[in-house]
Amino acid sequence: MVYIRDIALPDFPLLLAPMEDVSDPPFRAVCKANGADLMYTEFISSEGLIRDAAKSRKKLDVFDYERPIGIQLFGSDVDTMGECARISTVAGPDLIDINYGCPVKQVACRGAGAALLRDIPKMVEMTAAVVRNTHLPVTVKTRLGWDENTLNVEEVAERLQDVGIEALTVHGRTRVQMYKGDADWRLIAKIKENPRIKIPIFGNGDIDSPQKALEYKNRYGVDGVMIGRASIGYPWIFREVKHFVATGELLAPPTVEERVAMCRMHFEKSLEWKGERAGIFEMRRHYAHYFRGLEGAKQWRMRLVETGSVAEVQAILEEIMAAEPVLVG
Ligand SMILES: Cc1cc2nc3c(=O)[nH]c(=O)nc-3n(C[C@H](O)[C@H](O)[C@H](O)COP(=O)(O)O)c2cc1C
Repeated sequence: MVYIRDIALPDFPLLLAPMEDVSDPPFRAVCKANGADLMYTEFISSEGLIRDAAKSRKKLDVFDYERPIGIQLFGSDVDTMGECARISTVAGPDLIDINYGCPVKQVACRGAGAALLRDIPKMVEMTAAVVRNTHLPVTVKTRLGWDENTLNVEEVAERLQDVGIEALTVHGRTRVQMYKGDADWRLIAKIKENPRIKIPIFGNGDIDSPQKALEYKNRYGVDGVMIGRASIGYPWIFREVKHFVATGELLAPPTVEERVAMCRMHFEKSLEWKGERAGIFEMRRHYAHYFRGLEGAKQWRMRLVETGSVAEVQAILEEIMAAEPVLVG
């Protein structure tokens, strides 16, 4: 077992990465159904939350079947982050996560996300403020450093543990790298080797197959891995990794029937949580992923993204099931 205070996770837990506009409750439902052990909300702007912006408020929605679930916050102001830890705690998650990794300009250039990697004293102060303002465990997600000349994540791990964080996830890239190049997990392994570090360390970046997950587990000694992009339209990645780590065997890929059923569940959850209009619209970004590699995927997707009718989406999904397209890619 891996513990984040009293949250018991299985050995080598698989975490669903927080992903803006992706890891909302409908998406989390399909990931949970496939074995994700710990999930996070999309990041929530502390400025938005404090202003009571509807978009930020809505992201606080967490459901019992999702547990354990963490709410992820980002921001540039220490007091606002502390206040938001308090607001988020009332929403009833199992933990609060702080984002010190977001590289995008609108976040990092406003002093939030990965920008804190350039100001460790402020990062420490902000973390302490969040810890002080919640009774829940606080975790952090960050990157290796700002750029290749400031790879400070080892120091970050120690200092944040000292002010009370209870788990750390590291994405093996710098802010400057954004998503380019390959993730480098060597520094993540060094954090794990540090005898002062007692909290769970989770590795993140480029896990896209069961083989890679096991290889990285063995090579870098992490307590678990966080999976992001590979889960989009392919939540089976969680059960596939679990099965491979436990048995050394690869599961057969999902059948057309399973793909349609999962996509339908995602769609229905989307309608339920977002209402019909947004539910239909926001589901459009997922279809290409669900049917990737299937013969005729492009045509199915085009029809799915063009319709504004629930009944028609359902009918097209039925058609895909009946056509039983073969896997070509
Ligand atoms: C569409 C998208 C949205 C993301 N949003 C967030 C976010 O809200 N919070 C966060 O900490 N990281 C965010 N990330 C980064 C991921 O959590 C993860 O660190 C990154 O994708 C690397 O993992 P992967 O190679 O498994 O995808 C996002 C990534 C993507 C692709």
